[in-house]
Amino acid sequence: MQDKQRQILVTNALPYANGPLHIGHLVGYIQADIWVRFQKMLGNECHYVCADDTHGTPVMLRAQKEGITPETLIENMGKEHLADFTEFAVAFDNYHSTHSPENQELANTIYEALDKAGHINKRTIKQAYDPEKEMFLPDRFIRGECPKCGTADQYGDSCESCGATYSPTDLKNPVSAVSGATPIEKESEHYFFKLGDFENLLHEWTRAGHLQGEVTNKLDEWFEAGLQEWDISRDAPYFGFEIPNAPGKYFYVWLDAPMGYLASFKNLCDKTNLNFDEWCKAGSDKEMIHFIGKDIIYFHALFWPAVLQGSGFRTPSAVYANGFLTVNGQKMSKSRGTFIKARTYLNHLNPEYLRYYFSAKLGSGVDDIDLNLEDFTARVNSDLVGKVINIASRCSGFIKKRFDGQLSDSIHDTDLLAELVAANDSIKRAYDSREFSKAMREVMILADKVNQYIDEHKPWVIAKEENKDDELHAICSMGINCFRLLVLYLKPVLPVIAEKTEAFLNIEPLQWRDTETTLTNHKINKFKPLMTRIEKESIEAMIENSKEDLEATSNETVATGPLADNPIADEMTIDDFMKVDLRVAKIVKAGHVEGADKLLQLTLDLGGETRNVFAGIKSAYNPEDLEGKLTVMVANLAPRKMRFGLSEGMVLAAGDGKGIYILNPDEGAEPGMRIK
Ligand code: MSP
Ligand code: ZN
Repeated sequence: MQDKQRQILVTNALPYANGPLHIGHLVGYIQADIWVRFQKMLGNECHYVCADDTHGTPVMLRAQKEGITPETLIENMGKEHLADFTEFAVAFDNYHSTHSPENQELANTIYEALDKAGHINKRTIKQAYDPEKEMFLPDRFIRGECPKCGTADQYGDSCESCGATYSPTDLKNPVSAVSGATPIEKESEHYFFKLGDFENLLHEWTRAGHLQGEVTNKLDEWFEAGLQEWDISRDAPYFGFEIPNAPGKYFYVWLDAPMGYLASFKNLCDKTNLNFDEWCKAGSDKEMIHFIGKDIIYFHALFWPAVLQGSGFRTPSAVYANGFLTVNGQKMSKSRGTFIKARTYLNHLNPEYLRYYFSAKLGSGVDDIDLNLEDFTARVNSDLVGKVINIASRCSGFIKKRFDGQLSDSIHDTDLLAELVAANDSIKRAYDSREFSKAMREVMILADKVNQYIDEHKPWVIAKEENKDDELHAICSMGINCFRLLVLYLKPVLPVIAEKTEAFLNIEPLQWRDTETTLTNHKINKFKPLMTRIEKESIEAMIENSKEDLEATSNETVATGPLADNPIADEMTIDDFMKVDLRVAKIVKAGHVEGADKLLQLTLDLGGETRNVFAGIKSAYNPEDLEGKLTVMVANLAPRKMRFGLSEGMVLAAGDGKGIYILNPDEGAEPGMRIK
C-alpha cells in the first residue's frame, strides 16, 4: 500500500556571510540533505531551500576592512558557500540571500502586521557607543577585563577564562574592538517585539510534538525565566533593511534571517508553478520543517513561531536541532589543525566519506558528535570500501568477461535476497525519524551477510573449475542484485556512488520502491572503481593545511584598530625573553610552494648555517624581491613538519590585516648576529 504523498518544505539554518564554511557547519546541512533525498526517493513532494544570512555588524565591518562594499562581500561569500555545498552534494532546490527583494518585502509585511496588531513597543535604552567610530557596539565588539576574575581582553558578554556572563557595562577598562576607543553610554530609541503576548501559544506549541523532547525541556527553563521583550532594531550604521517609517533604524539581523527561509522559497515559487500562499500562509496543510544547530534553538522555537503567528503566516511543523561537532574529542582548534574548512577538506578528501561518517554517527537527538580521524579512516575503509563496494568488484569482472555483461535469469539465493528486501521497512523508518546511525548499522549487517554468501560460494574458485559456468553466473548475478539493494538503501547518503552505480548497472535512477524488483536477464556495463580507500597521508595533509591557514593569518589582526583587537600580551620576565633566540638572517633564496596559497619557501643564511623556512607572506611579496634582503628570524624554534617539508624557524613580520611587512635590521647588521 502506498502512503499518502507528503508535501514538505525543508530549510537549513542560513550560514553567515561573514566567513567560510567549516566541517562543523556541515553536520546540519548533510543531515538535512540526506533526509530530503530520502523523502524524494519515497516519492514525496519536497522542496529544500536555503540562503546566505547577510546582515549585521560583522559583515559590515569585514567589508570595510577588506575595502569592499558589503554587497560585494556577500555576493562573493554566497557563491563560495554554494560551491562548497554543491561539492558536498548538498542539493538545495533554491539558494538565495536575505539581502534580496523578496526578503525585504517579507520583512516589511511581517513587521507592519505585527505593529498593527500591537505587538511592537518603542522605548529608549542606553547602550555602549564608540565615539570615534560613531557607532553603537554589539556586546561582542567590546573587550575588557572580566569583572569577576580579572582576565584581560574578554568579550562584552562572557569570560572565556572563568565562564562568567555579564553585561558589557560591567567590564573593567572596556575598549571598543573596532577603534580602540573607550566606549561611552548613549541613549537611543529601540523597537521591541512583545514576545510575552505569545506566551500561551508558545507554551502549547512547544509541547505539541514540533520539537525534540530534550529541546522542550530546555525551553521550560526559558519559560520560567520569563519571556522578555525582544529588541529588533539597530541604529545606523548597520548593514540591513531600514525599518519602514523609522529613518536610521534597521531590523536586527536575527529578525529578517529566518524570514530568509520564506524569501528563498518565494523566489523558488516565482520560478516554478508553486503557490507561495498555499504553503506559507496561516492554515496551510503542507509541512514546513527547519533543520538547525542547537545553538540557535531560542530563535527558532520561540521568536520565530511567535513572529509567524502574529503576522498571519503558518507556524513550523517541526524544528530539528543537531548537536555540535568535535574533532578527536575536542572543540575544533586552529592550532591543532582541526578547524577544518569545508574547502580544505575538499582539497584532500572525498565528500562522501564525511557524509557516510556523519550518518553513521547521527541520531535524532541534539547530542554532539565526534569526528575521530582514526575511526573515520577505519570506518569508511572497512564499511564502504571493504564491505559494500567490494561486493561489486568481486562479482562484476566475471559477469563482464564470461557472460558478456549479461546477468542470469533467476535469483540464486532467494532467502538472502528476501532478507535484504524485508529490511526496507525498518531502514525506511530509521531514515524518516533521522536515526541515520541505525539505518547505517542495518545496511552494514546486510552487507556482511552478502559478503559471507560470496565467501561461501567462492566465485574465484568456481571460475577455474569446468562445467560450473551456470553456477558462477548465478552467484555473481546474485552478488550484483544484492549490491543494487545496498546502494539503494545508501543512496540518500551516497548520491554520487549511487549515480555511478546506476550507470554501471545500466538502470534508471533508483527509487525507494525499487526494492520490489530484481535485475535478471539484464545487461550491465563495465565496472569502474566507485571509491578508493582513505589514505593516512591525505588526512595528515589536510591537518597540515589547516595549520597553514592559521599560520598565514596569524600575523594579521582581525579588526582595524591593532591594539584594540590585538592587545599587548601578558607581562613576561627578561628570562622568558632570553629564551627566544632572534638572529639576523639573509634571504638567499625565495620561491613559491606548489599547492600552498599563502606560503613562500625561504632559504635563510644565518652566517654559516642555512635554514629552510615556510612563511605565510605570499600575499605581500614576490619571491624575487626578497632575495638578498636581511631579516630577523626566531632561530631556536622547534622545527615543524609541514606538508611541504620541514620548517626550521620563523621569520618576523608585522601585520595589520591589510598588509604584511617583514622586519629588516638597520644597515651594517650581518647574518647570524643575535638580537637582544
Ligand atoms: N546565520 C545563523 C543562522 C540563521 S538561521 C535563520 C547562523 N549561522 S552560522 O553560520 O553560524 O551557522 C550555521 C549553522 O551551522 C547553524 O545551524 C549552526 O548551529 C551550525 N553550526 C555552527 N558550528 C557548528 C559545529 N561546530 N557543529 C555543528 N553545527 C554547527 O547560526
Ligand atoms: Zn572571568
